[in-house]
Amino acid sequence: MQATTGTQAATASFKNLKCKECGAEYELQASHVCELCFGPLEVKYDYSNLRNTVTRETIQAGPNSIWRYRKFLPVASENPIDVGTGMTPLVRSHRLARRLGLKKLYIKNDAVNMPTLSFKDRVVSVALTRAKELGFSTVSCASTGNLANSTAAIAAHAGLDCCVFIPADLEAGKILGSLIYSPTLMAVKGNYDQVNRLCSEVANTHGWGFVNINLRPYYSEGSKTLGFEVAEQLGWELPDHIVAPLASGSLFTKIYKGFNEFTEVGLVEGKNVRFSGAQAEGCSPIYEAFKEDRDFIKPVKPNTIAKSIAIGNPADGIYAVEIAKKTGGNIEAVSDAEIIEGMKLLAETEGIFTETAGGTTIAVLKKLVEAGKIDPEETTVAYITGNGLKTQEAVQGYVGEPLTIDAKLDSFEQALERSRTLERLEWQQVLV
Ligand SMILES: Cc1ncc(COP(=O)(O)O)c(C=O)c1O
Ligand SMILES: [Zn+2]
Repeated sequence: MQATTGTQAATASFKNLKCKECGAEYELQASHVCELCFGPLEVKYDYSNLRNTVTRETIQAGPNSIWRYRKFLPVASENPIDVGTGMTPLVRSHRLARRLGLKKLYIKNDAVNMPTLSFKDRVVSVALTRAKELGFSTVSCASTGNLANSTAAIAAHAGLDCCVFIPADLEAGKILGSLIYSPTLMAVKGNYDQVNRLCSEVANTHGWGFVNINLRPYYSEGSKTLGFEVAEQLGWELPDHIVAPLASGSLFTKIYKGFNEFTEVGLVEGKNVRFSGAQAEGCSPIYEAFKEDRDFIKPVKPNTIAKSIAIGNPADGIYAVEIAKKTGGNIEAVSDAEIIEGMKLLAETEGIFTETAGGTTIAVLKKLVEAGKIDPEETTVAYITGNGLKTQEAVQGYVGEPLTIDAKLDSFEQALERSRTLERLEWQQVLV
């Protein structure tokens, strides 16, 4: 079914869609580009209403999920799709912090976000709730993997028909992680940017609700909850510095919007949070624009193991550059080898197995500290947005092998001795 009109409850605080470029306003319908200037549309709220109705206590009395922030999200329903998404741990890092030389480092761990183990469950919970309100019965997306997993899972839960599109060369875990929910899965022979272009055409011809195309203004708001949660979990305070991965740039810009909204309605004291972004060298159009001080993105052809963040023509890239610049942050890129090292470093020091996007974030965090671009005294939050079990091939061959032994004590003792000798030899090599 194709939806054409907007729906909204009288009590909701979201008011309209507004063009980020020219300010033209639109009804709350399924559209994402300005008819006048082709700029992206964003949801606007009535902040005076929010100031009068939301307090720290009303939020804390809400569900243990992203829906405790429902008033800041663009849904009218009192009963949104709640699959337990959000309220993931904010882990105080000690061992990684010490290794890097930071005093107050936190890991926001969306590797364990529910139900599909990436931050995309946040955006999809919002998008599909809104899709239902707008009358869509089929939902879809153009995905680098995680979004397809989330859309397929949450559509299954909500009883919506689902057709998702991915590049055909994704990791096995990402493909199986969609198929299990029985969507129609289109594996397109091409990269993400080609998938996305195809999906724009399908959105026009089939009238489906594409979470990251015609529902993009609603979908993207879900990422604000990564800002809200960190502020609440830090005791209603903003951090000094955040590091997050960049694909389209949307997540990064919405964490920023989340911090600003909490400040605007008086839930936290305002401060300049420095925003730093992470890309893979094999797909770094946002980093390149930042480095060359450009106000436009030059699209690239991705070639990196960090497939989930391999977007060559990022829709919100230039807004991410703007935020990094105006907050005094940075955007950095790291090699595939550094990404693997980043995944291993986080696992070995904090017990968190993240996917390649998280490896990129940790590698960039390390690079920024080494370059003196993160002050050791700053309260720094690194956003880990996906789970390593989905991208196992990235570290296959870099994590050693198990010691296979007979079920006998002497076999165990011999293997233990061999492994200790090996360890000693490795240490001696490190020391010389
Ligand atoms: C694990 C993970 N982290 C980060 C991102 C970046 O998201 P955005 O497109 O909002 O920049 C993605 C995008 O697919 C992702 O899958
Ligand atoms: Zn416009």
